[in-house]
Amino acid sequence: MGQMIPDLNPRATMEFKTNGVPKMPKPQYDPKFTDKVIAATGPHAHPRLAQIMPSLIRHLHDFAREVNLTVAEWSAAVDLINECGQMSNEQRNETQLLCDIVGLESLVDEITSKMLATSTAETPSAILGPFYRSDAPFLPNGSSIVQNLDPSIEWYDQAIADSAFLTGQVLAAGTGAPIQGAVVDVWHTAPNGLYEQQDSSQPEMNFRGRFTTDEDGRYSLYALRPVPYPIPEDGPAGRFLKMLDRHPHRPGHIHFIVSAPGYRPLTTQLYDDRDKYINNDAVFAVKDELVVTFQPREGDSNAKWSLEYDFILGRE
Ligand SMILES: [Fe+2]
Repeated sequence: MGQMIPDLNPRATMEFKTNGVPKMPKPQYDPKFTDKVIAATGPHAHPRLAQIMPSLIRHLHDFAREVNLTVAEWSAAVDLINECGQMSNEQRNETQLLCDIVGLESLVDEITSKMLATSTAETPSAILGPFYRSDAPFLPNGSSIVQNLDPSIEWYDQAIADSAFLTGQVLAAGTGAPIQGAVVDVWHTAPNGLYEQQDSSQPEMNFRGRFTTDEDGRYSLYALRPVPYPIPEDGPAGRFLKMLDRHPHRPGHIHFIVSAPGYRPLTTQLYDDRDKYINNDAVFAVKDELVVTFQPREGDSNAKWSLEYDFILGRE
């Protein structure tokens, strides 16, 4: 595909706005058109669609009228979405990435978690992201998700400098009772910003593990302080970011899925407050409650830093 979006519709810039003053009146579009499209929905439509489509149609039509959307611009948007679909497969979801860079996945995630929440004490959720693997190994508490760390690895020194001990409890919202037997599924990138499945130099399941909480609801593991990484830029979503004059970086984060029988599984991320992108996430997923401060750790040859963070789960 060549140029993704045609030049701005000159009518929008020249005819209607000169020094902010309309030169000629905006065309009068058919005032009955949107109602006619909404009314086409039949009595046996899927109930949820019947509920939400009038709003979607109204917003879409209002948007098109507001910006004087041309056929060429609409056609470029259709091409963009088509290209995202054609690029998507088991390993990559380019359409989801397109939604991410306009904040839609984060917004839908927030709506969903707040709709289902039974207590304001629950740990906020954050997006799953495209690099989760559901079959990470179960590891004993106190063990490390860092595999085969060797001085010959390019990022060895950074891995040592960022070595971190992570611990905390999984607690029930409302009562604050510790949840024994909760599973804490954790994953993050190497210091080169790549997840193991993106990087053939890393061992299988590197920086991934599942930990089961003890009788105090406590988990503990060794990992690394996370580093920022760019979302994939080699597809249409990346091109779109560039057209918006935006950077592709996500602030360093550690992913978690915390689950326990009888409780709603929590998918979330913790963000390291040292990160320069902490207030400028390319996919808008950072929430204040999920920003953490690692503390220097003394007397542990396996970690230079430590972090204590409790996850609070809501009832199913
Ligand atoms: Fe991530």
